[in-house]
Amino acid sequence: MTRLSVNINKVALLRNARGGNLPNLVQVAEDCEAFGAEGITVHPRPDQRHVRFDDIPALKKVVTTEFNIEGNPTPEFLELVLANTPDQCTLVPDATDQLTSDHGWDTLNHADFLREVIAALHVKRIRVSLFVDPDPRMVEGAKAAGADRVELYTGPFAHDFISDPAKAMAPYTAAAETAAQIGIGLNAGHDLNLDNLRYFRENCPGLLEVSIGHALISDALYYGLSNTIRMYLRQLQG
Ligand code: PXP
Repeated sequence: MTRLSVNINKVALLRNARGGNLPNLVQVAEDCEAFGAEGITVHPRPDQRHVRFDDIPALKKVVTTEFNIEGNPTPEFLELVLANTPDQCTLVPDATDQLTSDHGWDTLNHADFLREVIAALHVKRIRVSLFVDPDPRMVEGAKAAGADRVELYTGPFAHDFISDPAKAMAPYTAAAETAAQIGIGLNAGHDLNLDNLRYFRENCPGLLEVSIGHALISDALYYGLSNTIRMYLRQLQG
């Protein structure tokens, strides 16, 4: 059973374009859950161009499925996460001005830093996932640093899927097998969409959760949010 966590950053981006509260991010989070989403993901970036730090307490109050906050563990980010205790925190090594996440952690070279951050989050009983490339060594490094899960960065999969699905998938299947062998949970995200999601899920054993934002919110412009969430859920079933 793979859970669908809807990333609502793009909804916040639309709201921020006019400076008011349309669309209402908290209402959208509640509606995503009512429409079947099994989690809500936000990625507050340092420039707060999408979800802002002050959105987090209001979201924490209403999210009843699984609240996942992802981001680069700067002191400000960690303070925010520790104060709001989401169900899961996904640590991402993105730069301050990065357009979107485009690589995973080097869990071997950053092992000491990651171990310290993970331990601090565990004190608050927050599950910790590390965003990694589909490299078995990085998955092993995540486990050694104390992470509960890894989130496989699926950007390259989505890019290569168009020309050669089997080749695009191979490293992810291998990373998933390593995760199962060593006993670390498995999430995935980035550029997953209605075309590639079923294939990815069917070839990624043990996939616990996908977080999807850009394509899902774009599809909702055509199909509506309720239909779209149902369409994504269908890709994860059967
Ligand atoms: N996972 C991480 C770590 C991300 O940074 C993002 C984008 O915010 C996603 C998943 C979701 O990617 P997308 O918006 O392409 O579905």
